Amino acid sequence: MRGADRAAVVAGLGAWVPQTVVTNDELALRLDTSDEWIRSRTGIARRHVIAPGESTGDLAVEAGHRALKSAGTGTADLVVVATSTPDRPCPATAPEVASRLGLTGVGAFDVAAVCTGFVYALGVTAALIESGAARTALVIGADTFSTILNPTDRTTRAIFGDGAGAVFLRAGDPAEDGALRGLHLGSDGTRSELIEVAAGGSRQRSTGLPAEEAATYFTMEGRSVFAEAVRRMAASVQTTAESLGWASGDIDRIVLHQANARILAAVADRVDVPLERFPSNIERVGNTVAASIPLVLADAAESGELRAGQRVVLGGFGGGLTWGSVGLVWPGLTVG
Ligand code: ACO
Repeated sequence: MRGADRAAVVAGLGAWVPQTVVTNDELALRLDTSDEWIRSRTGIARRHVIAPGESTGDLAVEAGHRALKSAGTGTADLVVVATSTPDRPCPATAPEVASRLGLTGVGAFDVAAVCTGFVYALGVTAALIESGAARTALVIGADTFSTILNPTDRTTRAIFGDGAGAVFLRAGDPAEDGALRGLHLGSDGTRSELIEVAAGGSRQRSTGLPAEEAATYFTMEGRSVFAEAVRRMAASVQTTAESLGWASGDIDRIVLHQANARILAAVADRVDVPLERFPSNIERVGNTVAASIPLVLADAAESGELRAGQRVVLGGFGGGLTWGSVGLVWPGLTVG
């Protein structure tokens, strides 16, 4: 099998969130916000956050273990971690995650596309499998935005939560259930400042001056990002569906990055697919960045909302700006 004869097939799925839960009411004790505001503007009721000393890599290892278990295997040729909150700025988090999973010696690297990270990581990993460079791979989306939020910023603190999710991919036939098809990726770097951590990179460090504290935190221009998220995710999902020959009525489930419940509703409207076909766990976990799509996949597969044989499109949008989609017929699998 080579090239177009070979596809990357989803054959395992696992997820993990840290134990500590922060409710909207708990946030409202420390910030000028309320459960009512957060629920009505975002659909979020609570989120999970890591404990002091925990890291993105720790969550990635837990999710990775579960995806390997789900696939009924202990090995993979490649480990790819989508994250924008790596354990350290350098080196990548993936090699250490791979070793902790008992996979020392395999290819391992990070992909940074913020909330679109998981879709980008699926795309690049699928291409490596299609080329024959790898036969199997673990793709993990993991982020701990609690570590980069400004403690005084009520907007971002209300939205983001920590977590990790992973899929196991294997080489297979493009016609079989689980095969990733119709990949679409996009970006617009002219709008990079809408979602950013301004300091800590080469541009700020080359000044030789210490960064202002506020610039070391994550910032987002929520209203502009909202409009872009709706427009770009809707168009990307449609591009993937069209490339697969699926009309909107043919799509059983659209699994979007969980940024805001109102964004899901607006995309549903635009693509003319009923909102009931958009699985969502945002109420319980918030926006978990690169972990968002695999976490909602795991929840939907466990609840039976996602079933074997359904036509599914995954769609993401995030910092960069970046966006992307990919389609598959959901395979029969048990979440690890
Ligand atoms: N509690 C109470 N009031 C708040 C809160 C809060 N938690 N957060 C903001 N407000 C206030 C604002 O200060 C503002 O007050 P003002 O009118 O006095 O200035 C008011 O509410 C309205 O603020 P907006 O930002 O316009 O509120 P909006 O309804 O747009 O909701 C939100 C903000 C939730 C951020 C929304 O814009 C959103 O979801 N944006 C998209 C997020 C997204 O898709 N991100 C992409 C992925 S993220 C990534 O890549 C990392």
